[in-house]
Amino acid sequence: MNRPSLAGMRVLLGVSGGIAAYKACELVRRLRDAGADVRVVLTENAARFVTPLTFQALSGQPVRSGLWDDSAEASMGHLELAHWAQHVLIAPASADLIARLAHGLADDLLATLCLASTAPLSIAPAMNVRMWAHAATQANVATLRQRGATFLGPADGPMAENESGPGRLLEPHQIVAELAALQGPRPLAGKRVLVSAGPTFEDIDPVRFIGNRSSGRMGFAVAEAAAQAGAEVTLVAGPVSLATPAGVARVDVRSARQMREAVLAQAPRHDVFVSAAAVGDFRPEAVAPQKLKKSGGGGLELALVQNPDILAEVAALPQRPFVVGFAAETENVEDYARAKLERKKLDLIAANRVGADCGFERDDNALLLLWPGGREELAQADKRALARALVARIAERSAQARA
Ligand code: CTP
Repeated sequence: MNRPSLAGMRVLLGVSGGIAAYKACELVRRLRDAGADVRVVLTENAARFVTPLTFQALSGQPVRSGLWDDSAEASMGHLELAHWAQHVLIAPASADLIARLAHGLADDLLATLCLASTAPLSIAPAMNVRMWAHAATQANVATLRQRGATFLGPADGPMAENESGPGRLLEPHQIVAELAALQGPRPLAGKRVLVSAGPTFEDIDPVRFIGNRSSGRMGFAVAEAAAQAGAEVTLVAGPVSLATPAGVARVDVRSARQMREAVLAQAPRHDVFVSAAAVGDFRPEAVAPQKLKKSGGGGLELALVQNPDILAEVAALPQRPFVVGFAAETENVEDYARAKLERKKLDLIAANRVGADCGFERDDNALLLLWPGGREELAQADKRALARALVARIAERSAQARA
């Protein structure tokens, strides 16, 4: 995968308080490696976690924290610094800073700079999962998004205090890659992309269902990458607890039949359909109206019927979009995936090996892309980077198909 480039870009990096502040040190190094000119501004709380001197050494530039620093103001006034920035990046962004930015406060240097700058603003949040999920934070995030701010992450995963969920700071290399992607070409500008993601749940009775281990991360990453590439994106999501990527319209569904209905309703008005959902192949023939009781220690036989193949149905539409499928295989990946490509009449298929050590429920993955007459391997990478590479190929191949 190409190394991200931010050559010559003047980045103002704002660091707010929180344990993730230490990761901003590596971020400075990575931003500089990518060619950016970086100035760091710390909030007062951030300076409690990492010293200004550390950032000064890493950025090779004076680091500022307070509004009332006479010597700093003499060398570059804060309004001048706001004007200097071509991009404002906040990482990590605490719940408090996000709230202050949403309300336009100017009660410290960083918030003042954000208010005074007209540069694009990217925010990489880091906070406890409950603080991120809180309605107040979500409302502030929505406000900032509406004003054009881009949210990078948060990532999903284990946190301190034995909790887990969205709220972790993206890794520094991911932040740099996303920032570079935002600057890059927008090959899907003006195009509409429909993505399905996540598992489906097939109810057995009011409390039980048949599901699968799909986390939805790959499909959500594809939706995010397509939006970054300029597309108008609709995401039909099975039951997952992932945050909706910026600028993406989301339709939540539960069962395969609900997913089919949502996808078929949307497909005709889209240019591309990416079927990343792990659609349940079977559902119980009937859903028991009441909870099934275990009677007398015997077993239970469930009659299952096959679900409709959503992907094949979209590929068979008279006015079909460019159709991309996924194939999760435990063996003979290429043969099985190519057979699927042909059988379902797809334009492209992204195949990966799944098993205990790869594929589902993980942050990284590798993909083999197959299309009629061609193939390309995308090496192991985190799902966001992989999704960007996949979206770039989809943009190329769908443009060729239209030509
Ligand atoms: N798919 C779908 N609707 C289904 C089943 C699968 O749209 N009912 C889509 C998936 O989103 C994915 C692709 O089809 O893009 C996967 O193909 P699938 O037929 O599910 O593969 P397998 O079920 O693994 O097929 P097989 O059992 O033959 O391996």
